[in-house]
Amino acid sequence: MNMHHVFTHSRIKTCCSELIGDTPLYELARTGTDSRLLLKLEQCNPTGSCKVRMAREMVLAAERDGLLKPGGEIVEPTSGNTGLGLALVSIERGYKFTAIVDGHASRDKLRAMEAMGVNLVFIESDGNGPSTVKRRQAAKEISERTGAFWPDQHYNPNNNYGYRALARELLTDLGGDIDYIVGAVGTGGTLCGTVSELRRLGSPTKSIGVEPVGSIIFGGPAGKYWQTGSGAPGGFTVGPNVDLGLIDEKLKVNDVDAFTTARVVARRTGLLVGGTAGAAIHIALKRLVMLEPESTLVVLVCDTGEKYLDSVYNDDWLEERSLLDPTAHRSLNRLMDAYIASTHLPPNGPQAAR
Ligand SMILES: Cc1ncc(COP(=O)(O)O)c(C=O)c1O
Repeated sequence: MNMHHVFTHSRIKTCCSELIGDTPLYELARTGTDSRLLLKLEQCNPTGSCKVRMAREMVLAAERDGLLKPGGEIVEPTSGNTGLGLALVSIERGYKFTAIVDGHASRDKLRAMEAMGVNLVFIESDGNGPSTVKRRQAAKEISERTGAFWPDQHYNPNNNYGYRALARELLTDLGGDIDYIVGAVGTGGTLCGTVSELRRLGSPTKSIGVEPVGSIIFGGPAGKYWQTGSGAPGGFTVGPNVDLGLIDEKLKVNDVDAFTTARVVARRTGLLVGGTAGAAIHIALKRLVMLEPESTLVVLVCDTGEKYLDSVYNDDWLEERSLLDPTAHRSLNRLMDAYIASTHLPPNGPQAAR
């Protein structure tokens, strides 16, 4: 065996789940005092989202605990990204997977699950947001009737454990502590799982959780929102994976600010991020300038913008919902302009106009 052969072989993965993790960091902005806003690009995982990390963890734990037998079935309610992760792991490990979904999910996530052979069960959406309560009831009912394994991502601790490697990647790549971390919160797994491991490893990271205006996880009145994956609608009981003790600041971002930020980032960098990442980046861009010099602020980008070409990046879809706001686009562009002097970002060109 020659050296060339050994090197080539080590770069080749033989199953898709080996592609999970080791996602890159991208510097979106830097202040004159060398504080940096870094994006952890979790869309670089297979399935285009961080949630494949926890899907794998929940399935492996269920196998260890004897809850999943060879050839078994899995059922889980999902806005799409958990479903895509479970689809990938099910294919690799030989399980049949049923995803409980509703019309609030992005169409591309549903299409992608169909492409991977997932059995989709649709729950009627009441038009006011995701049917999170009804989706869970359906999963419980199917699991009780058929014996399918229901991971129950809101209550399953392996959801949060799935992000331990993410925390280690951050510490390795940054070669030191992370001062701030910002992430959108749904089940709580991504942010709380990452923060808990960072702190266990000794990093005194301050955490900022973000949910849509209208979501009830951090309290406040329930209302309609179009960000998908993060938040929880009125009537939903928040599960223990949202560990409020691990979230130092709890903030809400409306759909206009979330989607405008995603769109402006796309036009200024060429990077397409999802709507909930837009919300987290919105908070981070406003916060960065206020931080002590040489701070490191990391935003967890949950998924890719390619999943939202029919919604967040579609002018007609936004206009129908009164979410296309040129004033918000202008003010976000001004905010990003403030960092130009100290970063590689190009000035506000014609592409960024709206
Ligand atoms: C796009 C998107 N953003 C944010 C979240 C929230 O992540 P978590 O459930 O880990 O809190 C999800 C969860 O599905 C998601 O799909």
